[in-house]
Amino acid sequence: MKPRSYFAACAPALEPLLEQEVLALRGVTNVSRDVGGVAFSGHDNVLYEANLALGLASHVFLRVATFSARAMNELDKQLRAIPLSSFLTPGTRIRARARCRKSKLYHTGAVEQRVHEGAARQGLTLAREGEEAVELRARLVNDECTLSIDTSGGPLHRRGYRLASGKAPMREDLARAIVIASGWDRESPLRDPMMGAGTLAIEAALLATNTAPGLRRAFPFARLAFFDAARLEKVRARAEEEVRSLSFPIFGSDRDEGALANATGNAQRAGIAERVSLSHAAISAAPTEPATIVTNPPYGERVGESGNLGGLYTALGKHIGDSPFAIACPDAKLVSRTRLPFKSAFMTDHGGKKIRVFVRK
Ligand SMILES: C[S@@+](CC[C@H](N)C(=O)[O-])C[C@H]1O[C@@H](n2cnc3c(N)ncnc32)[C@H](O)[C@@H]1O
Repeated sequence: MKPRSYFAACAPALEPLLEQEVLALRGVTNVSRDVGGVAFSGHDNVLYEANLALGLASHVFLRVATFSARAMNELDKQLRAIPLSSFLTPGTRIRARARCRKSKLYHTGAVEQRVHEGAARQGLTLAREGEEAVELRARLVNDECTLSIDTSGGPLHRRGYRLASGKAPMREDLARAIVIASGWDRESPLRDPMMGAGTLAIEAALLATNTAPGLRRAFPFARLAFFDAARLEKVRARAEEEVRSLSFPIFGSDRDEGALANATGNAQRAGIAERVSLSHAAISAAPTEPATIVTNPPYGERVGESGNLGGLYTALGKHIGDSPFAIACPDAKLVSRTRLPFKSAFMTDHGGKKIRVFVRK
């Protein structure tokens, strides 16, 4: 059987890091980095592995067809020719989403309507508002339409562990990217002295223990016509076997008592509570043994703190000393108050705003 084509989408600037994750999947071929994600091919176990193991992707799309569509009747004709039943089981509830760029077909609502109609003709059921559904995505660029199925069932960064969040929680995929960007060797201590909901420490523990980030997450695989439960079980079992134990600490602390409770609950749900050492402490009293520091300090606007942020960054600089670090902050001026040599590793979107990640120069 021919390998299938997939596209793992990610947040801006994470493509090179995601490409490394994709290359590490077993059985993957034709890996190519693109704007917004990484395309690859593989047999069905690659689909399961990708959803379980890609911690930097937002979704894994199965590419169903690519065709030229300059007019609605051309789109209809192409949709009729695609055997959707070889991808989705009849009766599956679907929802269409369209994105149109530099194309004659520019009305996303109208394209979605045609995809709905095409899918209904082939025995799929249109989901009602608020109903759970598999997403069919039509992406039109330069009059070329790519039709894909979201195999992840919603954003992959929702791993399922972060039910408790503080004032300004960090998205899990971004937290993972920050830990990677710090250059941490995953074999020595790491600390987040302003951990909030604990996302950076938890993602670090998932990385160091080689725990697939999607191991505890539910996926809509059963809706796929070619779903192979035994194969998925094998992929899951192998991922479980590959989890390592840690011989070094991963620390998280925060001056807010509620943050400790949140982070502890999240670490328990992530299944790594024994691998992280979390405490209630202001940065001035946080543990000081040498460790890579990864952190996302308050930067005013988002957390709404009006206190002396410059002083907090100076205290952070003292806390870091000679250690490797990654600091997520939109404001380079604030980071310069650490008095540490730094450079920008990448800039991405977070909560509708740009955020930069700075590392030691
Ligand atoms: C932007 S939030 C961190 C969010 C975190 N990355 C997450 O995923 O939830 C910043 C955190 O810094 C903590 N913080 C502020 N000043 C601090 C200080 N002096 N010492 C320790 N923690 C502090 C706040 O309580 C807050 O939880």
